[in-house]
Formats: sequence, structure tokens, C-alpha cells
Amino acid sequence: MDIRQVSNKKKYDLAASCYDAIAFILSLGQVARLYREVSQRLDVPGGGSVVELGCGPASVIPDLLEKIDNSSEIIGIDFSSEMIALANRKKEVNGWKNVHFECMDMYDFTPVKQVDAVVFCLALTAMPDYKKAIEKAISILKPGGQLLLLDSIPLHSKWYHPLANAYTYFKSIVVGAKPTREIVRFIADKMTIVENKEMVFGVYTLINAKI
Ligand SMILES: C[S@@+](CC[C@H](N)C(=O)[O-])C[C@H]1O[C@@H](n2cnc3c(N)ncnc32)[C@H](O)[C@@H]1O
Repeated sequence: MDIRQVSNKKKYDLAASCYDAIAFILSLGQVARLYREVSQRLDVPGGGSVVELGCGPASVIPDLLEKIDNSSEIIGIDFSSEMIALANRKKEVNGWKNVHFECMDMYDFTPVKQVDAVVFCLALTAMPDYKKAIEKAISILKPGGQLLLLDSIPLHSKWYHPLANAYTYFKSIVVGAKPTREIVRFIADKMTIVENKEMVFGVYTLINAKI
């Protein structure tokens, strides 16, 4: 694990108990809408599987569960033991039978079989090497599988984007993220982007891609 990873892991362990409040504030109160937008696009057949890389305290899991049937499963991966402890508590309280969490570095995760969808929800730019993270996601997807990405990615086409980018960079210092617009090009080179939608005045981008 590189030094940025180690310091990020410590930061996420410390922030775990108030993560949902932090996400609400930093998303300008829009986090619930962002989670809904991600889950609405989830396209998993019955008996299918979804992996969320960087799942945190399972914040988007309730929305994802609404889009899958009981025979499908969700695996959440996070390297913060505090985040995974909270995620497991939510699993127990809510009786989620088809959700499993694993505490590990996502770069080391290999599922038993390839999965139908991989979700990076507010997590990709928190990882030190976005290329390696996307390649990992692609490597675990079935042919025709789906990648759903929600993150803050600097944009440069509308008059208000410099303001959105300034906020994104401020936020990235607080959370230890590394936003770069290269992410979109990197995905487009390897996958078919079905949808690329800016949200919350360009502070967030939602990408829905198929392999
Ligand atoms: C901003 S939180 C996102 C949490 C959640 N997905 C959500 O939608 O709110 C980013 C998460 O990514 C995790 N993370 C960062 N790098 C990771 C890595 N290399 N492997 C596993 N988890 C990682 C952090 O521990 C943190 O919980």
C-alpha cells in the first residue's frame, strides 16, 4: 500500500462514524439524490451480482438493493475496518441476506466468478491509482457487464464549471481525493460509455458504461 493509501485508510477509519453526515454536507445536501441516480441505472439480471468497490459504511447499498431481486447479491469492498464494521452493523439491523462485506484493499479483490456490475460510488478518486482501479473493475466484469461510476471529475465545457472545479478541488483536499478528467477518457478507451451525466452544477459526474 502506498503512503497516500495508508494516510487515506487512517482518515476513513477516523471519519467512519460521521461519514454519512460528512457526505451530506460535502455533497451540498444532494447525497441521497446521487445515490438514487446511481441505483436507478443498475442493470443486473435475476441471480446476478454487484460489487461495490470502496463501499464505505454501506451508504448506497439500500438504494442498490431496491434494484436487484432477492436471488442477486451485492459484495461491498472497503479497506477501512471501521467502515466495514458499520456496514456489517447495517446489514445485521436491516437483515440484508444477500449482501456481504469484505475488509480489504480493492486492488487485491478477486471474486469467485465474474460479476454483472461494478459500482464506484464517491470512491474512485479516493484511490491512488484510478487506472489500476478501473482495470481491476473491468477484469472482474462479465462480458457485457456494467460499470457505474459517480465521482467529482473536473469539467471544462460550461461557464460555471470553473466554480464547480474549485469546489471539487477544495473537497478533494478535505477527503484526500485526486480528481482528474482523464478518468472519462480512460474509461471511453476501454468501454462503451452509455451515459455521461453531470450533476449538482458539475460537481458530480455519473458514468454508466458497458464492457
Ligand atoms: C468517500 S467513501 C465512499 C463510500 C460510499 N461508497 C458512498 O457511496 O458514500 C470512499 C471509500 O473508499 C474506500 N477506499 C479508498 N481506497 C480504497 C482501496 N484501495 N480499497 C478499498 N477501499 C478503499 C475508503 O475507505 C472509503 O470508505
